[in-house]
Amino acid sequence: MCGIMGYIGNREAQSILINGLKKLEYRGYDSAGIAVCDGESIAVCKAKGRIDVLEEQAEKSSLQGEIGIGHTRWATHGRPSDENSHPHFDQSGKFAIVHNGIIENYLDLKQELEERGVVFTSQTDTEVIVHLLAELYDGDIVSTVQQVAGKIRGAYALGVMTEHEPDKLIAVRLASPLIIGVGTGENFIGSDIPAVLEHTRDVYVLEDGDLAILTKDSVTVMNLETNQLIERDLLRIEWDKEQAEKDGYEHYMLKEIYEQPRALRNTMTGRIDEAGQQIVFPDLQLSTETVKGIEKIYIVACGTAYHAGMIGKHVIESLAQIPVEIDVASEFRYRRPLFKGKTLTIVVSQSGETADTLAALREAKRNGSSILAITNVVGSSIAREANHLITTNAGPEIAVASTKAYTSQLIAFYLLGLYLAQEKETLPSEERKSLIAALQKLPEQVETVLAHAEGIHTFAQSIKDEGHLFFIGRGLDYAVSQEGSLKLKEISYIHSEAYAAGELKHGTLALIQEGTRVIALSTQAELHEKMVSNITEVKARGANVLGIALEDNVELHRSVDDVCLIPSTDALLTPILSVIPLQLIAYYTSVALGNDVDRPRNLAKSVTVE
Ligand code: F6R
Repeated sequence: MCGIMGYIGNREAQSILINGLKKLEYRGYDSAGIAVCDGESIAVCKAKGRIDVLEEQAEKSSLQGEIGIGHTRWATHGRPSDENSHPHFDQSGKFAIVHNGIIENYLDLKQELEERGVVFTSQTDTEVIVHLLAELYDGDIVSTVQQVAGKIRGAYALGVMTEHEPDKLIAVRLASPLIIGVGTGENFIGSDIPAVLEHTRDVYVLEDGDLAILTKDSVTVMNLETNQLIERDLLRIEWDKEQAEKDGYEHYMLKEIYEQPRALRNTMTGRIDEAGQQIVFPDLQLSTETVKGIEKIYIVACGTAYHAGMIGKHVIESLAQIPVEIDVASEFRYRRPLFKGKTLTIVVSQSGETADTLAALREAKRNGSSILAITNVVGSSIAREANHLITTNAGPEIAVASTKAYTSQLIAFYLLGLYLAQEKETLPSEERKSLIAALQKLPEQVETVLAHAEGIHTFAQSIKDEGHLFFIGRGLDYAVSQEGSLKLKEISYIHSEAYAAGELKHGTLALIQEGTRVIALSTQAELHEKMVSNITEVKARGANVLGIALEDNVELHRSVDDVCLIPSTDALLTPILSVIPLQLIAYYTSVALGNDVDRPRNLAKSVTVE
């Protein structure tokens, strides 16, 4: 996720762009840049680091001009650096672009351009777009952008500017958000409404396939392919500044819960071939031979990332048939794990900076293990020190309680499990295809769960005064229970425990008494009968049970007090859907208690000390 900003009008663009980018910093902050045109030539200023660094540099160079584009970056392709920062230019310096999204076929396009003599100056996927613009320019920037759009595949929101037509800014949207702010004698492009709110409250929200032409006095929206003019509704935004930064949501956590469909799509983008048959990891240097040689996998992480790893273990073992051991990083780093034969250590970390996880990575490396990092932050220490990298591309997560990073990590594990199975040939191709199809359906199914979340509100109200709560499940449901319990603990401060349902009778059942609240997950058809027995055990001791099950489970409601149904999917993929109600339960309980949801007591977003 990155943020883009554009301005055309009668005022100096530099400070408008920089202030707009500051409002978008939540979308990424590893590097930033602006380009400004004075009517004749384009000047640029860009820098690695947060917007403040850019601001300092821009003040020194003071770019003159009343039209410009800007970008704040969250790296996906190419580490954070000055060269990889946007805006990107063609070789003549006459075309400049900013991009949010991922170009899936950039490697092929890059090779073709290089064969034609184009010299690239960055490692980004974005740079292909600007070279194509320069190569195909036919005297009309609009038709040229359309031609280029026909060649690129993926997700993009683009801001385009050229010295040849300095009275125009072009904005294009396909699967990445983009809005147009409409002013008097000036107009704006933004990835999000807060970027323009200081200047105007009137916005068009572009839809996929929209191309907008901005001059200082007009905004024209048309269909990217058909040229047909489109009338988008002009929205009047009534939010205050703080609401706007949270996209109208009350808290970042809720915003991030609702961002999950997009985050999951972003994690998949570019990693599944067009036919939906194969997993492709263009950036992962794990050859078939290397994959076939892996004898054992360790998964190491902390907290929520560890819970994602628990699912990862199931996924890799069942799809790729490689034995997997999982450990919390603070234990792993000191327990002298045995490294025998060819071992791959997978470290999972949203921030990429967690001290224990980083130390575990170094310990595994010291013992000769190859390291694969799954992280949300490309330029992080963990990303840099690993041998292989899968970025989750969920965009910055601001709330301390992790939500979209967790589900994106799960997607990364599904893709990795399928990839390992594909290279090892441990899964029939028909099964792989059907699992890929089910995976691609998940973002839409998450939307469905989110759209039917009203009942959860009432449930949360009903548990807010409880002293203790239990989550139970078997197999994958046990792993999700752990995550549900952690979410509830950290933001509601209610004590809760997650148990493998079959373990209850070995001690914990003694704690169940009249009225004890239990959340029971039963999404695995082959374990359902066993779960019903466990639910009956707790109900017989007076527990009040909320069951979470797939929509085709018509029996569960007979065994529980309340039921929450989620859409049906492949048994391996249910965690992505079953965790959503648990995230919402934690969120609404915390709100009902009046807690500081986004900044729970005693906790920090990134734990960089031991
Ligand atoms: C809980 C949570 C933490 C983190 C843990 C690891 O909601 O966010 O448990 O998962 O501190 O952090 P990362 O993933 O940054 O290594």
